[in-house]
Amino acid sequence: QATSIPADRVPDMGKRQLMNLLLLGAISLPSAGMLIPYTYFFVPPGFLVFVHVKWAETFTFKTGIDDEKRLKPSGSSAGGTVAKDAIGNDVIAENWLKTHGPGDRTLTQGLKGDPTYLVVEKDRTLATYAINAVCTHLGCVVPWNTAEKKFICPCHGSQYNDQGRVVRGPAPLSLALAHCDIDDGKVVFVPWVETDFRTGDAPWWA
Ligand code: FES
Repeated sequence: QATSIPADRVPDMGKRQLMNLLLLGAISLPSAGMLIPYTYFFVPPGFLVFVHVKWAETFTFKTGIDDEKRLKPSGSSAGGTVAKDAIGNDVIAENWLKTHGPGDRTLTQGLKGDPTYLVVEKDRTLATYAINAVCTHLGCVVPWNTAEKKFICPCHGSQYNDQGRVVRGPAPLSLALAHCDIDDGKVVFVPWVETDFRTGDAPWWA
């Protein structure tokens, strides 16, 4: 014979669910807290760096899109990105030309965050092209050598002329180009999808 429990002794469903939730919280919160350092201990540090870099790339990419929208409200498909100087400020063409003389090649942050040389022509104007500094051999950033008037890669000795055309291997290709425009006083890079004027070839980077 089943003993029945008086109705006033049985907690109602609402109270039972609340108690269950409290119990679950009491168990899972400390467990989650322990899981984080535990996971960090076992995940290889290289993977964490990879995740971080991927996140940073995504963020940079989004910033590029914002710039594109801001600069091309007319809906032009050729998006642009404002050049940034070494400390991350927008490059103002007039100010740049006050401090960078004829023949100067100085690195800025370009499309997709790539290190990109602004070129000052002999007549003290900005060139309409900019040169991506990433070596086409294995990706080192290639410094400008003022004395030799060449870009010379410190990694394996590839050389590029003053327009970034490859003149000595092992690099297989010339440095990539970007258009360099001036929009509202600011220097703006736009992807270069036309023929490479240095070689007459289709752009390998587009
Ligand atoms: Fe530039 Fe190898 S990375 S020559």
